[in-house]
Amino acid sequence: MTQNVSLDFLGELRRSHDCGALRSSHVGARVTLMGWVHRRRDLGGVIFIHLRDREGVSQIVFRADADPAIHSRAEQLRSEYVVAIEGIVEGRTPETVNPNIPTGEVEVVAEKIWILNTSETPPFPMEETVDVSEDARLKYRYVDLRRPRMQRNIILRSRISLAVRQELYNQGFLEIETPFMTRSTPEGARDYLVPSRVQQGCFYALPQSPQIFKQLLMISGYDRYFQIVRCFRDEDLRADRQPEFTQIDLEMSFPQQERIFEVIEPLVRSVCAVAGHEVRHGFPRLTYAQAMRFYGIDKPDLRMPPFHPVEDLFPPSAGLTRPGLPLVAIHIPRTGPVSRKERDELKAFGQERGLRVYDDVKRLERDFAEPMQKVRERTGAAEDSLLMLAGWPAEPKGHRPEETVFQACGQLRLSAGQKFNDRHGLLDPSDFRFLWVVDFPMFEWDEEDSRWMAAHHPFTSPHDDDVDKLIADPARCRAKSYDIVLNGVELGSGSIRIHRQDIQNQVFNALGMSDEEARHRFGFLLEALTYGAPPHGGIALGLDRLVMILAGETSIRDVIPFPKTAKGTDLMCEAPSTVPEKSLRDLGITIRRPQQTQR
Ligand code: AMO
Repeated sequence: MTQNVSLDFLGELRRSHDCGALRSSHVGARVTLMGWVHRRRDLGGVIFIHLRDREGVSQIVFRADADPAIHSRAEQLRSEYVVAIEGIVEGRTPETVNPNIPTGEVEVVAEKIWILNTSETPPFPMEETVDVSEDARLKYRYVDLRRPRMQRNIILRSRISLAVRQELYNQGFLEIETPFMTRSTPEGARDYLVPSRVQQGCFYALPQSPQIFKQLLMISGYDRYFQIVRCFRDEDLRADRQPEFTQIDLEMSFPQQERIFEVIEPLVRSVCAVAGHEVRHGFPRLTYAQAMRFYGIDKPDLRMPPFHPVEDLFPPSAGLTRPGLPLVAIHIPRTGPVSRKERDELKAFGQERGLRVYDDVKRLERDFAEPMQKVRERTGAAEDSLLMLAGWPAEPKGHRPEETVFQACGQLRLSAGQKFNDRHGLLDPSDFRFLWVVDFPMFEWDEEDSRWMAAHHPFTSPHDDDVDKLIADPARCRAKSYDIVLNGVELGSGSIRIHRQDIQNQVFNALGMSDEEARHRFGFLLEALTYGAPPHGGIALGLDRLVMILAGETSIRDVIPFPKTAKGTDLMCEAPSTVPEKSLRDLGITIRRPQQTQR
């Protein structure tokens, strides 16, 4: 319970400094500070408080012998009370200097105090060393956001947004807004729908991205557009996915793929610099086919070495993999000796994914001395490394069977890398390894619906050389699309778009959409393409993911002020919630309640 404390008004009182600003150069100055009581120590005749605001902490002293009235007022202070202090800055004696805070050489001897508000005992301490459950943090998010870690993350996020705007303005981009209440845009997730009261039975969709609008802005001649924009997707949530998230979205007219990269690379460098990180490596390019062949994933983590297909080194009689399918050498450096148990775990992990894993290198070297010598040369695997071979014993699977094998090997590689990270230290979070993955396939096969889906989105241009494969050989049709990847995380995705109506129609057809359905869903875009659409292309980077990595966090929830839980709930304001019957009636909506179970 809050004690009975008489409160003061702020009136015309103004602060002279932030709590983190005072240094020894301020000694002798009269200052007014405002903030929260972070910590309070009562030594009888003297009370010390740490007064905290966004910029830091200052020590305030209340001495009973100098001013009994102010000292007794200070006795009423508790954690998180909101106060204003006026006093004189004094230097601390060498033994009392606090080297842990930037203001640690001084303290303020209080002459006046205003208690502006009290506080209940906070649900958890402000110190970041104390571990608090995420549910409690999200329920009392306004308290959690006061803690140093969240303050650092949210401030960093703001500074990164500013750096993005500055960089893009310097490069001639205009920030232009696009609607939130719109029609569905196909980015692969479900839409959040907003019912219309005026046109009952009709719904707006919240945008999964501003994709179509940014393309229309190019058709309208705005040349270079960007927006730091909220997107909405009803999809399964994970540590790097939220139902509403923010994109750094941009589009340009007349670009080649490389021109888009020229915009993004300096942008990413300056954003990293804002976060105090240097990008020590370049931005290599890998085709999707190479990424699969050497990493088994379209977002390779370059901090670990690639794997290598080695079936060509063994005689067909070796029988290590099914004929025609890859045999892959996976190598994790500097693991040192690997125990039987660890090997069995990795083998089981591979087996669950369809692989046959050969971990007994000594035996392989005895049975296949020469090929194994060449495997060591190709992989560069030293004696202190973990080396495994993985083959695929069963029938080939999928439309691109090699890819199925590579994907399983990619998972095994990552799992092994993470398992031994504390030994080999390859996955250093301060090592920023960017890359571009290019030439993605145009289509992906959807097993559930037995049809081709757009791998990126249906507005992506096919490769100039592959237009004839759109219908004839969709599995081999490449797209002009690209991803920027950082340490195994897909940071952003983009493409050169289709700017011709005839090709856009062909792509809709390849996706199994009739002309009529295409006209119904995207008629306005198809029409717009006939009014002088320039070649155009763009990209969107996930701002939350970028800030997450630069802040050294592992969940985007820790860089979003008010995120949702994995179930899409806002624990603080308890959204989503039911609404009054009248609101539903106004919208013409009846809710079908789940059937009562029969007793
Ligand atoms: P895409 O769907 O790949 O492309 O999204 C681009 C980037 O947005 C981020 N992202 C997310 N971040 C958090 N939570 C989510 N649920 C989520 N979904 C996506 C990722 C991703 O790389 N319109 C195209 C871009 C274009 O072609 O220009 C698009 O939205 O970092």
